Amino acid sequence: MIQVHCGDITQLHIDVIVNAANNCLLGGGGVDGAIHRAAGPEFLEACRALKGCETGDAKITLGYKLSVCYVIHTVGLIWAGGTKGEAGLLESCYRRCFEVALENDARGIVFPCISTGVYGFPKAQAAKISVRVMHEFEQQFDSIIACCFSQDDAQCYKILLNV
Ligand code: APR
Repeated sequence: MIQVHCGDITQLHIDVIVNAANNCLLGGGGVDGAIHRAAGPEFLEACRALKGCETGDAKITLGYKLSVCYVIHTVGLIWAGGTKGEAGLLESCYRRCFEVALENDARGIVFPCISTGVYGFPKAQAAKISVRVMHEFEQQFDSIIACCFSQDDAQCYKILLNV
């Protein structure tokens, strides 16, 4: 079942939350900053041990001070007009997060709107890609949630999901 939630991803209680990270995995602004602030110093050390992550890929840590089992860190891409393979890389982010969650027996996962903040990916286009991959994995999860930080973002998902 795919749901839309509007709010702070760090406040949710579920198996996995996804972090929209950067290649070094050592924190940043936006949702990355919020997750690092909430998860605490041990979380940063666990991220350091991962030694980075390729764009479009995903890696996992425990949730530490967050009320989740795991955080899956994925690295989106900086929007460059849509002709540099951005859609494929964003799709890869979502797909790799689902694959890593399944490898760790997680069946509940929450995604932020990856790449649509600092990285500038157009929200409606990103939501289409996200929902398409969510439907691909829907039967393998008990709960899939798109966590939006604004009503505008949430509206993109609600239209696509008819909710
Ligand atoms: N909970 C849920 N969503 C959030 C939160 C939060 N606490 N804070 C921000 N967001 C939303 C943003 O509003 C946006 O819709 O997460 C989405 C992704 O935006 P960013 O966090 O800016 O991520 P992204 O666009 O993927 O850029 C990643 O930004 O923070 C740095 O280190 C990060 O370099 C990386 C880049």
